[in-house]
Amino acid sequence: MPDATFNFPRGFLWGAATSSHQVEGNNTNNNWHRWEHSEGKIHSGHLSGLANDWWGGRWREDFDRAAESGQNAHRLSIEWSRVQPAPDRWDQNALDHYREMLRGLNERGMTPLVTLHHFTDPLWLEDHGGWTNPDVVTFFEAYAEQVVTALKGLCTTWCTINEPNVVTSLGYLLGTHPPGKKDIGQAFTVMGNQVLAHAAAYRKIHELQPEARVGPVINYRSLQPRRGWSPLDRMATWMQRKLYNDFFVDAVQTGKMDYLYKSVRAPEAIGTMDFLGINYYTRQEIFFDPGAANTAYTYQRFRTDAEMSQNGFMANEPEGFFEALKWGYRCGVPLIVTENGIEDEVDGLRPRYLAQHLHQLWRAVNFNYRIKGYFHWTLVDNFEWDAGWKLRFGLYELDPETQARRKRRSAGLYEAVCKTNSLSSAMVREFAPEVFEKIFPG
Ligand code: FCB
Repeated sequence: MPDATFNFPRGFLWGAATSSHQVEGNNTNNNWHRWEHSEGKIHSGHLSGLANDWWGGRWREDFDRAAESGQNAHRLSIEWSRVQPAPDRWDQNALDHYREMLRGLNERGMTPLVTLHHFTDPLWLEDHGGWTNPDVVTFFEAYAEQVVTALKGLCTTWCTINEPNVVTSLGYLLGTHPPGKKDIGQAFTVMGNQVLAHAAAYRKIHELQPEARVGPVINYRSLQPRRGWSPLDRMATWMQRKLYNDFFVDAVQTGKMDYLYKSVRAPEAIGTMDFLGINYYTRQEIFFDPGAANTAYTYQRFRTDAEMSQNGFMANEPEGFFEALKWGYRCGVPLIVTENGIEDEVDGLRPRYLAQHLHQLWRAVNFNYRIKGYFHWTLVDNFEWDAGWKLRFGLYELDPETQARRKRRSAGLYEAVCKTNSLSSAMVREFAPEVFEKIFPG
C-alpha cells in the first residue's frame, strides 16, 4: 500500500505523565511512605527511596529529554505533604520548588498540566481519617488555594484528583493501597467526599484564575461480561461500569451521586468539569461472583486469548481505548488522555501497544471527539506503588541505584510522532511491523 499519514490537529498536546511520589524521591511525610515501611505491602519490600531524584534536581535532565524528543507538554503532580506538612503550616520553599519546575517546562516550550492529588495524602490527613472525614473537602480546597495562588502565573490547566475510582477501589475495597481497607461503606463515603472536594477545588481555582481549565482524571476500564448470555455477568458488568467508570462524571453532570441503592444530591458538583482527563490502560471481563460482597459481587480477569504485558499486569486491548474516548465524548467537554501506557521492561510489546493505541486515538479525533492531547505513562521508569520497581512503564529505562537513564526503542517511535504530529505508515513499518496490516490494511 502507498505511504499513509494519520495527522493530528494543530496544537495537539503530546507529552508524558508523572506523579510526585513516583518520581521526586524522599517523600517521607505521606501515607505511601508509611505504607512502604509497613511489612508486606510493596512487592519484594521495594522502597521509593530517591525515586527518579527529581527533588534533587534531575527533573532538569528529564525535561530536557522530553523536550528534545519533541514533547510539547508534560503532566506532573504536586505533593500535598510537601506543600502542607502540617495542618497549620504551608511550606513556601516547596512551592518555590514547584514554581521552578513549571518555569523549567515553560522555558522548554512545554505546556504544564498540573495534578493536585495523585494518590498520596499527608500523614496528618491520614491520621484525621483521610478521605472518609468530611472535613477533607475544606482541607483540599485550602490546599488547592495555596497551590494555585503560587503557581497560577505558570499554569492554567489543572487536574483536581487523579483516579478517584482507583483510590477507592484499591484503598477501600481491595486494600492493596493505603489505608488498606476492605469496606464498601467507607468506599462509598470516600467516593462522595472526592466529588465534593473536587467541586470545592474547582470553584476555588476559578475564583483565583478565571481563565483556568479544571477537570478530574478518571481511570476508564473497558468492561465486558465474561459470558454474554449470562444475565448475572451482564448485571455485574453494568454495576461495575456504573460505580467504577461512571460514578464521578455522572455526579458532576447531574448533581446526583448514584450509589445504585440510593442517590445523594450534590448540586454544587454540577458543571465543575472544563475537560475530562481519561487514563486508559486495558480491558477486562467481568463475572458475577456471589462470594465477593467486597467488590460488588464481581470477579474480573483478562480475556484468555489476550496479549499480556510482561508481568501479566495488563492486556493490550486498543479497541477499549476507542471505547474509552467514545464514553468520554458523551460528557460534552474536551478530553485529554492524561495517561496511557504499558509495563514492558524489555520493550518488546510497547512499540506496537503505542502504535495501536495512537491509531485508535487518531480514529477518535476523526470522529470529532474533541481530544486535546495525549500523555504517555511514563517518561522514565518510576516507582509503581505496591508493585515497587517491578513494573517498568518508561519510554526511558532507569537504574534506580545509579540514576542512569537509557532510551528504549519505543521512545524513538513516540519522538517521531511528537515531532511530526502524526502517525505514519513508515513509522509503523519501522517500529511495529507486526501490526502494520492491522493499522494500514490492504
Ligand atoms: C495509574 C496511576 C499511575 C501509574 C499507572 C501505571 O493508575 O495513575 O500513577 O501507576 O497507573
